[in-house]
Amino acid sequence: MKLPTTQEVIDLSGKTAIVTGGAMGIGLGIVRRLAQAGAKVVIADLDKKAGDSAVKEVLAGGGQAVFFQTNVANEKDIKKLVVFVVKKYEGIDILVNNAGIYPMVPMAQMDSTTFEKILSVNLKSVFFSTKAVSQAMIKKGTGGKIINITSIDALHPSSVGLAAYDASKHGLWGFTKNTALELAPYNISVNAIAPGGIATPGTGTGKPTSPAMKAILKQFLAKIPMRRMGDPDDIGKVALFLASDLSSYMTGTQIVVDGGVLLT
Ligand SMILES: NC(=O)c1ccc[n+]([C@@H]2O[C@H](COP(=O)([O-])OP(=O)(O)OC[C@H]3O[C@@H](n4cnc5c(N)ncnc54)[C@H](O)[C@@H]3O)[C@@H](O)[C@H]2O)c1
Repeated sequence: MKLPTTQEVIDLSGKTAIVTGGAMGIGLGIVRRLAQAGAKVVIADLDKKAGDSAVKEVLAGGGQAVFFQTNVANEKDIKKLVVFVVKKYEGIDILVNNAGIYPMVPMAQMDSTTFEKILSVNLKSVFFSTKAVSQAMIKKGTGGKIINITSIDALHPSSVGLAAYDASKHGLWGFTKNTALELAPYNISVNAIAPGGIATPGTGTGKPTSPAMKAILKQFLAKIPMRRMGDPDDIGKVALFLASDLSSYMTGTQIVVDGGVLLT
């Protein structure tokens, strides 16, 4: 039997990928790797200015990307996104559910509006996109790859103030496993990546501004066996693995990418 080359296995030419929250941070790290591997990438994000700049960067590097303004917590926006992508590219092969928020509010001070917003953006959104995109994938009949960005907090709490966030990410991990079961017969895999501390705009790009964030990061860095924050590309490379045929027999798994922090 002649094995395809590693280059061939990783090649995403002809594939279409949606990356939610792909305008910056971890999402942009994933966009860069998928585009470099040849995918046509649709950046679905709230932030148009950052999204346009991400598209510019990908195009300048010879890749293909477009921006579609989307609030992932709004089902109508997700439906419009899927209609747009299917019409433009005749299908969707890869979906990365990355958009997420992590406001630090101790449970005792949290109001129900904030709690619901965290659950909507981090979890309900993934139900909306997984449902709409998997239907398009099933219709096309060529399988697909769905990648959910959870967190080490899907397994173990990292800090007080993240109770709602941890509930959303534990929920997303459960949703990943169950949808993996439901979609496996259609050759659609659903896997998760659980990042540890990654330097992004959301975490102050490793340079926190608020005293609360500074204290958390200092405490966090001291606990990381690899003694550094992760880079968005550390997640981008694992997303490429899960989006490509390198992960051909994997579904319902969660890959922890945390510099060893869960060991401590
Ligand atoms: N950075 C970390 O240390 C870390 C660790 C574990 C998990 N994560 C997870 O990784 C994901 C990305 O985190 P990040 O640090 O890159 O965040 P970030 O804040 O740096 O970037 C998030 C992106 O998502 C977009 N976004 C936010 N709400 C949206 C919405 N409702 N609809 C569409 N787009 C929206 C933002 O505009 C932004 O472009 C999140 O799901 C987060 O929970 C991050």
